[in-house]
Amino acid sequence: MIKKVAILVNGGDVSGLNPVIRAIVRTAENKNIECYGFIDGYKGLLENNYVRLDKSPISSGILQTGGSIIGSSTNTIVFNYKVTNPDGSVEYKDLSDVCVQNVKDDGFDCVFTLGGDSTQKSARDLFIKGINTIGVPKTIDNDVACTDITFGYNTAVSVATEAIDRLHTTAETHHRIMVLEVMGRFAGWIALESAISGGADAALIPEIPYDINKVVEVIERRRKIGKEFSVIVVSEGAIPKDGEASTFTADIGSGTGITTKFAGAGDRVSKELQQLTGLESRCTTLGYMQRGGTPTAYDRVLSTKYGAKAMELAMEGKFGVLTVIQNGHLGYVPLEEVVGENKELGAVEGGTKESNVRLVTMDHELVKTARDIGICLGD
Ligand code: F6P
Repeated sequence: MIKKVAILVNGGDVSGLNPVIRAIVRTAENKNIECYGFIDGYKGLLENNYVRLDKSPISSGILQTGGSIIGSSTNTIVFNYKVTNPDGSVEYKDLSDVCVQNVKDDGFDCVFTLGGDSTQKSARDLFIKGINTIGVPKTIDNDVACTDITFGYNTAVSVATEAIDRLHTTAETHHRIMVLEVMGRFAGWIALESAISGGADAALIPEIPYDINKVVEVIERRRKIGKEFSVIVVSEGAIPKDGEASTFTADIGSGTGITTKFAGAGDRVSKELQQLTGLESRCTTLGYMQRGGTPTAYDRVLSTKYGAKAMELAMEGKFGVLTVIQNGHLGYVPLEEVVGENKELGAVEGGTKESNVRLVTMDHELVKTARDIGICLGD
């Protein structure tokens, strides 16, 4: 019998976080289980900072809202936490035991971890150390292993689709190439799916190193039939053939984590296309618009299913697992499978290619569909 549970959110926000929190809270309330939220994710777990969520007004009216009512932590890995000493020197410490002790002292029977690959890696590591974790897969990038879809992704694709629609009309009016850069560091799901839904002419994704001349060919073909405009979608992690992704190294806040940031992929493609075609080209970077604001109906339902399932698993005593959708069915898999080959405790940094992200595979039906209808994938 579980009596007391807590939720934490880690990593970049997405639309759909509050609906997951709401579903967990409502399911808990129905079973008279106390529900709390750690403030700012793993940081809250480390600092033992939490608020009551059940029977609380803050958990009400949040189904349609973006963001997270309990905040989030980015780049916080408690197994390798950046600590600044009083003399200013910096040390990286494994503070996971503090988290384990906090959970024990406060009597939490389960901690729900809402996050992407990095979050679920820590959830699996903390489970091994004795915390009953249950993961819920969150990220706009849709790249968490073992599930067909993460919450937040559908909203991001909708935002990107609307952007493509709007870029289309201005591209046509001014006879321009319009490049839209969307998020997706290692996985091109957003670019691929929004290119299909928005009717773009090319989609450049990290999984397929691109030859810019292939994109030029498409633009020229369109010109020959009187279409002097094109819309090209580029993942932030797109890689030119024989080149590198457009990245920079950032020095980020407390904790440790993802220091490689992506920027400039769309701009690079835009400049090259202008030079090679002689057509004017403009780049729009969609950025954080993809993560904010109200969730789509699809994401509200998916988030609610995930949240209710997570609570059901907790009541059944199934811990160390991730809620997933596989072949359209709601279920769960062990976190051990989600972390893939990265079995060592705290060893692999999340949000990297090595951390077992789910990439677009060449036999995926979206790839086939895109090719069938003539969307250039840069190869
Ligand atoms: O993981 C989701 C994501 O949206 C990536 O596509 C993007 O590179 C990253 O987060 C940026 O996050 P932030 O700037 O908040 O660290």
